Amino acid sequence: MSNSPTHCRLDGRTSSVLLSNHGAIPALAWFGNRLVSSIADSMLENLDDAAHAFANLDARAALSLFPQAASGYMGSPALVGRRYNTNHTTHFTLSDIEQSAQTVTVTLSDEQSRLTLTKQVTLDSNSDVLTIRTSLKNNGTDDYHVDWLASGTLPLPNHFTNCTSQHGRWGLETQSITRPIGPGRLDVQNWHGRTGHEHAPNVICSTEHLCEDHGEAMFLHLAWSGNYSFRTERLNDGNAYVQAGMLLRPGELVIAPGAEFSCPELHLTKGHGLNECTQRFHQYARENILPAWTRKPRPIHANSWEAMYFDLNDEDLKSLVDAAATIGAERFVLDDGWFIGRRDDTAGLGDWQVDQTVFPNGLEPLVKHVRSHGMQFGLWFEPEMVNPNSNLYREHPEWTLHFDQIETPLARNQLVLDVSREDVSNYLFNCINDLVAEYKIDYIKWDMNRDLVLAGDGVFPRASEQPKAVYALMQRLTKAHPNLEIESCSSGGARCDFGVLKCTGRVWTSDNIDPLARTTIQQGFARFFPPEIMGAHVGHMHAHLTGRSTNLHTRAIVALQGQFGFELDARVLDEQEMATLHHYTMLYKKHRAWLNDATYWQLPTSDTLLIGSGQVEQSQHEALFSIVLLDSLRHTRPGCQRLRGLNPETRYWVSLASINIDQLAPFNRTLPPWCTEDFICTGELLMTIGLPLPVMPPQSAVLVHCVAEAN
Ligand code: DGJ
Repeated sequence: MSNSPTHCRLDGRTSSVLLSNHGAIPALAWFGNRLVSSIADSMLENLDDAAHAFANLDARAALSLFPQAASGYMGSPALVGRRYNTNHTTHFTLSDIEQSAQTVTVTLSDEQSRLTLTKQVTLDSNSDVLTIRTSLKNNGTDDYHVDWLASGTLPLPNHFTNCTSQHGRWGLETQSITRPIGPGRLDVQNWHGRTGHEHAPNVICSTEHLCEDHGEAMFLHLAWSGNYSFRTERLNDGNAYVQAGMLLRPGELVIAPGAEFSCPELHLTKGHGLNECTQRFHQYARENILPAWTRKPRPIHANSWEAMYFDLNDEDLKSLVDAAATIGAERFVLDDGWFIGRRDDTAGLGDWQVDQTVFPNGLEPLVKHVRSHGMQFGLWFEPEMVNPNSNLYREHPEWTLHFDQIETPLARNQLVLDVSREDVSNYLFNCINDLVAEYKIDYIKWDMNRDLVLAGDGVFPRASEQPKAVYALMQRLTKAHPNLEIESCSSGGARCDFGVLKCTGRVWTSDNIDPLARTTIQQGFARFFPPEIMGAHVGHMHAHLTGRSTNLHTRAIVALQGQFGFELDARVLDEQEMATLHHYTMLYKKHRAWLNDATYWQLPTSDTLLIGSGQVEQSQHEALFSIVLLDSLRHTRPGCQRLRGLNPETRYWVSLASINIDQLAPFNRTLPPWCTEDFICTGELLMTIGLPLPVMPPQSAVLVHCVAEAN
C-alpha cells in the first residue's frame, strides 16, 4: 500500500478521469474535458474539497468511489448488507489500486466483515464513455446477504442542478421529465422486473440550461433488464451525487462463502450539449455492445401483427407476403398466433410447436413462399411466458415464478417461467432451436409482455436471476446459430438497455406506430441508443393505438428515422400508396449503408411542436434530416431550420427527399425555392442561417437530403 499512486489518470479522445487517492478510499476528482496539463500529486491533494464546517463529525465524510455509512456519509451508501449473528456494519479500507492502460482497478477490503470489493473504472478512448464494474466477494464461511449494492456512485459538480429521466407507459415510452437536484433524495425505482415502460434505466444530470448544443451534462445508463434504482440528492454540505444499481427484494441476493457477485455495469459520459453525449453513447454501443450483425445494412421488415393479428392462415399470409414484397420488404416476420392453441391471447404460450390446425403442413409452405421472393423469414416467440391454458403449464405448473400459498396475478392471461431453472431453459432452448434449425429462421422477435410480480422460486425472490438467465438463453441460441438475429420486444419498448443489447441488435421501439406519438418516442429512444437498431414501421392510415389518421408521407418519413419496415396490410394499398411507399423503400435502400453508423443529431427548433433530427454520414459527405410538425403552429411560417453536423466549408446540394410537395404546396403562396429547384449551399450557412422551411400543415413532415458537391 505504501507504493500506491496518490492519483490515477485516464485520458480519452476528449475526456479525462482523475481518481485521487488521498482519503481513506479513492474518489473521483475529475471526469470531463480532457486535461492538457500534467498534474502533480500535491495539486490534487490541495484541491480536495477539505474545508470543514462546524456541527458535523470531526472528520469530513467525503464522497468516495464507495461511500459508506460507517464514515458518517449521510447519502445513499454503496452497500447495505449483513451476515447473521455478527456485526452488521461494514467498514472497508483500501487494499490495492492499480492502473493498466485505460482501466483503474481499486480493491477494498473489510477484514472484520470478510468481504472484498473490487471496482474497475474504464474509460473507452474512442467514445469517452466511462464504465464502472463492481463486484463483491464473500471471504467468510457463512452467507452474506445483500440488500443494496450500487453499481456506481458519482459526485456531481456543484453547478449541476437538474436531473432528467425518461418515463412512460405502453404505447408512449421514453418521455423526458426534468427535476431539480435538491435536498431529499430523488429515487427513480423500477420494480417491473423488466426494463419497463415506466422508467428507463437512464438519467441525465446537468446544468440548469441544457439543450441540444449547450449546457454541461452527464449521461448515465445501467446495463440491466430488471429492477433498478437511480438516486440523486444534494446533501447539506452542498455536494450532490448520483447513484445507480439493481434493486433487490429482501433475501434476494445471498453471496455464498467464497462466491463473488458482479453488479450490472454502469456507463456514463460527460459532455457539452445533449447531442455530444448522445453521439458518444451511440459510438460506444456500436463498438462495444451491439452484436456484429448490426454493423451490416439492415433489412426492411414486414410484420404480420397489425395486418392479421391472430387471424392467421396460409393463403392470407402468402398474399400478405406478396404485397410486402411488392413494396420492397426483405424480411417477413410471422408474429404471434402460429403455435398450438394460440387463437387469441388467452392460451398457448409455452407450447412452441406449429399449430397444425392452422398450418396443416407446418410452416414450410409459408417459409418457401417467403424465400421465393428472396426474402428472409422471421418468427415471433415469447419464451419467458406461459399461459395457464397450455400443455406446458398443465405438465409443469412448478416452472413458474411464484411464492408458495400466494396466488400470482395474471397479466395478459400469462405467468412467467423461471428461466434460471436448468430444466426450463433447456426446454426453451430445445423448442426454439428445433424450429430455427427446421425452418432456417433468420430472425426472432423475442417478446416479453408482462411485469414480474411475486417473482420467487416458491420461497426466495428470483427477479434478479431472470435477466441473466434470459441473456444466457439468447447467447446459447446465437452460439448454436451464428447467423440468427434476435430483436428485443417487450410490449413495444419495455426492454431496451445495454444488458439485453449484447444479445439482441434491434428493438421494437413501441407498439404505437402513430407517427406523431412515435416521433417523441423515437427522440427519447435515440437519446441513448443508435437509431439503426430502432425498429420503425410504416403503419396503417388509422393508427391502431391512437385512432388518429395520418398522411402516408409523415408515416414513412418518421419510419425512415430508424430501421425501416412495414406493419400494415399492404394488400389494401392502392396504386398511388404502393408507389409512394416504393419511393421511401428505395430511399432507405439507397442510404442505409451509411445510415448504419451515421452521426445522429437532434435539431434545435423554433417551436416545441416542430421536432427535427438528422443523420450525417461519417465523412460529412451526405445527410438526411427530417422535420415533423406535430400540430398547428402559432405563427404563419415555421421559419428557418438550422441543420447540424455538416462540414461548414463543404458546399451541399440540398433537396426535398420526401415526395410530398403536392401535400405542402396548397399551404404555400410561395414555396422556398430549394423545395422545387436545385440549390447549393455551404454547410456553414445551413447550420447558421438555416434552411427556410415551407409552410407545413399540421401533422406533416419533410425529409431533406444534403449531398456534398462533387469536386
Ligand atoms: C406485443 C408486441 O409489442 C407486439 O408487437 C406484438 O408482437 C404482440 N405482443 C403480439 O402478441
